[in-house]
Amino acid sequence: MTTVERPLWDPFDPAFRADPYPFYDRLRTEAPAYPIPGGSVALTRYSDVFATLRSNQVSRDVEANATLDESNPVAVRRRERRRGGAKTILNLDPPDHTRLRRLVSKAFTPRAIEQLRPRIEEMVDARLERAAEAGSIELIDELAFPVPFDVISELLGMPTGRADELRDWSQALTQGLEPTVTMEELDAADAAIMQLVPYLIEIIEGRRQSPGDDLLSALLAVEDEGDTLSPEELISFVVLLYVAGHETTVNLIGNGMLALLRHPDQLEAWRHDPSLDASAVDELLRFDGPVQHTVRVAMSPMTFDGGGTTVSIEPGQTLLTVLGAANHDPAMFDDPHRLWLARPNAGKHTAFSAGIHYCLGASLAKLEATVAITRLIRRFDTIELAGDPTFRDRLTIRGVDHLPLSVT
Ligand code: HEM
Repeated sequence: MTTVERPLWDPFDPAFRADPYPFYDRLRTEAPAYPIPGGSVALTRYSDVFATLRSNQVSRDVEANATLDESNPVAVRRRERRRGGAKTILNLDPPDHTRLRRLVSKAFTPRAIEQLRPRIEEMVDARLERAAEAGSIELIDELAFPVPFDVISELLGMPTGRADELRDWSQALTQGLEPTVTMEELDAADAAIMQLVPYLIEIIEGRRQSPGDDLLSALLAVEDEGDTLSPEELISFVVLLYVAGHETTVNLIGNGMLALLRHPDQLEAWRHDPSLDASAVDELLRFDGPVQHTVRVAMSPMTFDGGGTTVSIEPGQTLLTVLGAANHDPAMFDDPHRLWLARPNAGKHTAFSAGIHYCLGASLAKLEATVAITRLIRRFDTIELAGDPTFRDRLTIRGVDHLPLSVT
């Protein structure tokens, strides 16, 4: 009987989705530039991932520049969908990217974000108060999701009344990013956007009439050397902020807390040592980050070491930069599978990408997670798992679904 060798990168393998790190290790050692079905090449070494994200030979605009696999109906459909809407800064190359990023970046500087600290502390404490009364907390539904959601809503000046619907829409949208996405899931993502956009237009129009002291009003008024955001750019940016603003941070808090519970010595160390507050979240981002991979398109011929062979990349071919694999590369991080909150170079992780698309919300995400986790672990002496944590069955955005805790 012939045995079919399993591909090293197989998003359809449930074991890979459940725990991709052993698979990344094999890829990095055996085939660090690995051609995956569909024409992409997965890069798993830190040096290759970092250099590619910072390279000016690559594009983030997959729709405009990637060679399409016409035989793959999902790929064809994805391209049609992308053509339907305005691009966000995430999908643009310079000079358009530079222009949009300049218009929006002022609101996200570390200094502007730091001003949100007291409000975030207040939100977290109110939720921990309820946990103290109950003696338990379902960390995802009762802290990790609502805090980033309320923060981004407040920052933008959005009502929070439709939180559940927004959460569903946002989950449907991010499911569209998964390599295993089906036509039905793409239908659901389209349906979500059809509901989300009119909802946002209504709010934006209201704010245009009566501006307030919020980010949305600031974005409506933004002007840089005579340049402004077009209405389409504004809507796409708000959608991106909503989705990026909470689909990811929820997983940083969830994955981070689970990692701490599985490494009680590190939890204890952090609980008693506030000097770790500035950097511990970087180690959590490195250890099990919410965004596992992103993509670039080669704009000129490139070559990579494929582990003894040279892998040549044609213009138009996509490169999957596997952030989670880079973050566990022993060439960069000593003993990479060990959670070590005091790791001196933890801040070198690629969980927020690198180069021009480096996450705009990085300071906000780190502040939210630091406040949430430090206040949780310092308020309660005992925090224990009160049931099995379940991971969402996803590969691109990795996160815990349920994390029931008992707290005393
Ligand atoms: C732990 C939480 C977060 C993680 C892990 C994360 C991760 C990322 C990554 C990997 C990218 C770049 C993707 C690429 O290079 O292709 C990115 C871009 C971006 N993120 Fe985040 N993000 C997080 C939270 C946030 C938050 C809270 C916001 C906003 C409120 C945000 C807004 C953005 C925006 C606007 C971009 C596009 C930047 C650009 O293209 O110039 N993110 N994020």
